[in-house]
Amino acid sequence: PYIEQFRHALVTWFEREQRDLPWRHTKDPYKIWVSEVMLQQTRVDTVIPYYTRFLEIFPTMEQLAQADEDVLLKQWEGLGYYSRARNLQAGVREVVEQYDGVVPNTREEISKLKGVGPYTAGAVLSIAYGVPEHAVDGNVMRVLSRVLNIHEDIAVPKTKKTFEAAVDMLIDHENASSFNQGLMELGALICTPTSPKCLLCPVRDYCIAFEEGEPEKLPVKTKK
Ligand code: ADE
Repeated sequence: PYIEQFRHALVTWFEREQRDLPWRHTKDPYKIWVSEVMLQQTRVDTVIPYYTRFLEIFPTMEQLAQADEDVLLKQWEGLGYYSRARNLQAGVREVVEQYDGVVPNTREEISKLKGVGPYTAGAVLSIAYGVPEHAVDGNVMRVLSRVLNIHEDIAVPKTKKTFEAAVDMLIDHENASSFNQGLMELGALICTPTSPKCLLCPVRDYCIAFEEGEPEKLPVKTKK
């Protein structure tokens, strides 16, 4: 019942308070995929105009699959990390050629696509298809380190597995999209690296770090 209350508090908060972002008006797996690739190393405010323009120029996977590389990269100019664009196109070509133009709906299959790592896989599966799969990025690790009082070092790569296992236990199977996006949104708006707004937090009743009084000390992150 405790976990169910946590889920419900998170999901209802997200559905009430989420920012109006362009990729939140679609469940098209291709469009969600584009948004998540762009958001991986670039902030939301920067991504918005690129996302909108990109989908005007390449509204379908077939159109992106056929695009010349110079047109694609020209479009990506300013976002940086050009390998992301090339990998996205390569992955989209695989879907068009090997999956009849349908983005796969299992982690096993979607993870075979070029450029689709564990995070992108979980984000597309949960947001586009409602599949209860984890999508753990830095924001999500920060939120859950505080809620669950996890002191493992997030600079150590295998620590991510701890958080993926935590999401697997907590995720709302009826509402995986809002659950995962709720964790992301909480990290962006409330559970920020410094000065978290705990008094506005929908899950503070379930948060061990809040109860112990020093949420800013988490997550533990060595080096850098
Ligand atoms: N960062 C990564 N994925 C995101 C999403 N779907 N919405 C907002 N910020 C994000």
